[in-house]
Amino acid sequence: MFRSSSQAFIALVLLASRFLAVHNAQAQVVISNNDGWATAQIRAQFDALTEKGYDAFLSAPALKQSGKGSYTTTPEVLTEPCQFDTCPVGSPPFGYNASDSRLNYVNAYPANAANYGVNVISPRFTNGHPPDLLVSGPDIGPNVGFLTQYSGTVGAASAASLQNIPAAAFSGVSGAQVSYTTLTSDPYANSTIAARIYSDLTVHFVGTLFEAIDIGLPIILPRAVIVNVNYGSIIGCGRPGDYKWVFARNRKDDSAVDALMCDDYLPTELEVLRSQGCYVSVSALDAETKTDVDAGTQALVMMKLHFLPWSCLE
Ligand SMILES: *[C@@H]1O[C@H](CO)[C@@H](O)[C@H](O)[C@H]1NC(C)=O
Ligand SMILES: *[C@@H]1O[C@H](CO)[C@@H](O)[C@H](O)[C@H]1NC(C)=O
Repeated sequence: MFRSSSQAFIALVLLASRFLAVHNAQAQVVISNNDGWATAQIRAQFDALTEKGYDAFLSAPALKQSGKGSYTTTPEVLTEPCQFDTCPVGSPPFGYNASDSRLNYVNAYPANAANYGVNVISPRFTNGHPPDLLVSGPDIGPNVGFLTQYSGTVGAASAASLQNIPAAAFSGVSGAQVSYTTLTSDPYANSTIAARIYSDLTVHFVGTLFEAIDIGLPIILPRAVIVNVNYGSIIGCGRPGDYKWVFARNRKDDSAVDALMCDDYLPTELEVLRSQGCYVSVSALDAETKTDVDAGTQALVMMKLHFLPWSCLE
């Protein structure tokens, strides 16, 4: 599993310190997406992180904004109602839920919403401190291979990462573009089940990331590097514990030298999602190019996420 002795050593330190770790549950986490602030999936993620004790803030587009990549624009007054009628025509460019000001919309693109969450919303609640992490998604539909170039989910994570806020993008094969109200009105819908499973998996991921920092690996993620996570379908994978995590690469490249996980090369994100079984693909991407980083950086990200239930493709 470890290519170098230093990697093995750090893993040992991690293992030895595991039982001393203090849970960083008060960490500040901004949540953004591209599907819109009122979709079931982002609200389930907000609820799950909040229940786990994180200081979570939602800052996401007022409307569905797919395929916007890293575009930014000037947020504008609403000329149509917010998604699912959650605000009227004429609402301001930035708004929030009157009974929970942690729930914010921005009438612009995903990268705008991420920037607003990081630079305005989170500091407002935390004496001006920047957040510890930005979680983007989970997106409805996967973001693998060349799709990362156009993905607003990846764009939002990259925007935070380029401001030195650690960030990860999450996407899932299952789910539907439905209102957060369906989480309670329709608890057995596939969209609700997908939202619940994926948010649990994300909470596990986030906990693992903070566990590494608690025990002295000083940075959460290398600068300008994001983690791109894609969850397989929920069909036949009804519980979060069914999922196996596979480290992957974004692009196929037979000449690339990868950090060692299972084999001499990493499978692609697409190969992971196309495999039979309940898999999650995890890859380390450069926040500028939105494609693979070098082997040394992959190895660092693997170490940070050492305690996830890793697996090899069968
Ligand atoms: C605003 O928050 C309240 C209380 O949590 C909730 O009942 C309501 O559905 C929320 N509305 C929106 C649009 O977020
Ligand atoms: C959920 O998805 C499964 C598998 O596609 C399907 O058989 C089932 O009818 C769906 N259930 C609902 C409530 O839509």
